[in-house]
Amino acid sequence: MPDLRYKPEPAKHTEIPRPKRAEGQWALGYTEPLNKNEQSKKDDDPLNVRDRILYIYSKRGFASIDPADLRGRFRWMGLYTQRKPGIDGGKTAVLDEEELDDEYFMLRVRSDGQLLAPAAVRALGSIGVDFARDTADVTDRENIQYHWIRIEDVPEIWNRLDEAGLSSLEACGDSPRPFLGSPVAGVAADEIIDGTSALDEIRARYIGDPAFSNFPRKFKTALTGHPSHDVSPETNDVAFVGTTHPEHGPGFDVWVGGGLSTNPKLAVPLGVWIPLDEVADVWAGVAGIFRDYGYRRLRSKARLKFLVADWGGEKFREVLENEYLGKKLVSCPSPPSPGTLRDHIGVHDQKDGKKYVGVAPTAGRVSGTLLTGLADLMEKHGVAGARLTPYQKIVLIGVEPDAVDALLDDLDELGLSARPSQWRRSTMACTGIEFCKLAIVDTKDRARDLVAELERRFPDLDTPITVNVNGCPNACARTQVADIGLKGQLVTVDGEQVEGFQVHLGGTAGLDAVFGRKLRAHKVTSAGLDDYITSVVSNYLVDRTDGEAFAAWVARADEELLRGDKTLEKA
Ligand code: HEM
Ligand code: SF4
Repeated sequence: MPDLRYKPEPAKHTEIPRPKRAEGQWALGYTEPLNKNEQSKKDDDPLNVRDRILYIYSKRGFASIDPADLRGRFRWMGLYTQRKPGIDGGKTAVLDEEELDDEYFMLRVRSDGQLLAPAAVRALGSIGVDFARDTADVTDRENIQYHWIRIEDVPEIWNRLDEAGLSSLEACGDSPRPFLGSPVAGVAADEIIDGTSALDEIRARYIGDPAFSNFPRKFKTALTGHPSHDVSPETNDVAFVGTTHPEHGPGFDVWVGGGLSTNPKLAVPLGVWIPLDEVADVWAGVAGIFRDYGYRRLRSKARLKFLVADWGGEKFREVLENEYLGKKLVSCPSPPSPGTLRDHIGVHDQKDGKKYVGVAPTAGRVSGTLLTGLADLMEKHGVAGARLTPYQKIVLIGVEPDAVDALLDDLDELGLSARPSQWRRSTMACTGIEFCKLAIVDTKDRARDLVAELERRFPDLDTPITVNVNGCPNACARTQVADIGLKGQLVTVDGEQVEGFQVHLGGTAGLDAVFGRKLRAHKVTSAGLDDYITSVVSNYLVDRTDGEAFAAWVARADEELLRGDKTLEKA
């Protein structure tokens, strides 16, 4: 195994904690692969699969694909086999991957916080229409995700992405996954610092670089210079968060080791200040620590959050400084997290006198046709570009003030409202059973129906209540940081298993970040979900004090009100 560490002279005094048993940390000499994923990455750099797709598999068809590529290295190209239709959630944990696989792929296209010009939005739309049975989702990692992709079409799809300045490279796999960038970078009137150039630099230097293509597991990056912390920095492996140093001015703090799934952890702020032009080096340092010291023995313990939990922020910073950067970082108190909404929905001021406009698809679902329609509208109204958000939303940038009204009307007609109901605005859903091989329940359709029903039942809701619908415990739609987080599972009713959810209540990121409260032995069926949420929300509306947010109410409310055992009526 080559020693890929990026290292000036290691400082002698940095004591690296040694786990009691070998965890497969390369830097401590454990370079023998300890599981089949590690073996596969050692057998061949996953980046090499690109050529096999272009020159062999796309020509010879699905059956020609080597299984180790199909269910392993393909992910580094943003390709992941999708679930065969008609297999219910009870079979998910029972069947082998080969039995769950369809001969079609999910394809994930990374946007990395880039501004998508109308031509790029049109290219994304055309791929959905021509190759993906008109599917397209906006995901909470700022990706566009397609389904029904045939291997034969991948070269042409990559051509179109290339022309649009986009890519699916390392959008899945044990790699530097798609970056979250502030959707309003460079334009928002209240921005602390524009981090666009830093994200561009990280992408240009390190995406596709073999020195960073074999991490212990996925590695998620976020960067924002906006005071609302609009990239969910708490839940990423590394996040750069805008901050102002009293002498040095605007720069970034570094947060490490966040992540959700079955063992959720909030990122640990290092309490430093780094200037814009050092972000890429620090990224490489943190990524290097993960690569070299990350736990590779068990996949379930391989994320950076486990290392950070064992080391603590101070030790992490010391190793970063001494072994990877060769210098000390400037200390600076971490910026406080605001409690404000982070989704940028509606019409807002830019610093150049123009406006930006955030619009809400329902639970992230769009389509190739809709994206093409959006490109038409952008051209018609002279919109400079679009960005995707970590909340499954789209923000249109650079709108002339006198074009806003007409644009908003056209957007409403297209199904992308800039003035959505609170429910449409604040509901997210992961991929779920429709296409995901790990799913237990349906999510996207369920979320759409839920939104429609809650809009009918609470048309005038005056405060945001976030609802995150997830098809399994992996928390791809961030179960634990929603007001109402739903984790898909099967529920037994009268001896029969039906789709349902475990409920996490009152989770929140930002100020007072806390994971949602799980109610003991409390599950709702998918069929009973509308009524359950109606009961809890009614209880909140009756019982809340002036201005009390949903999460704050949950923290003090009686369990029977949270469980929906009792529904309070308005006096
Ligand atoms: C062990 C397996 C997995 C874990 C632990 C996991 C975890 C996560 C987490 C925590 C996020 C949210 C990231 C963030 O923004 O903070 C995420 C996003 C996502 N993951 Fe997974 N994931 C897993 C497997 C999968 C699979 C198999 C799929 C296949 C469809 C998938 C699809 C997605 C999608 C689509 C998103 C973006 C969410 C959306 O907007 O739809 N994940 N994942
Ligand atoms: S939460 Fe589960 S069901 Fe939903 S996309 Fe993630 S892995 Fe699939």
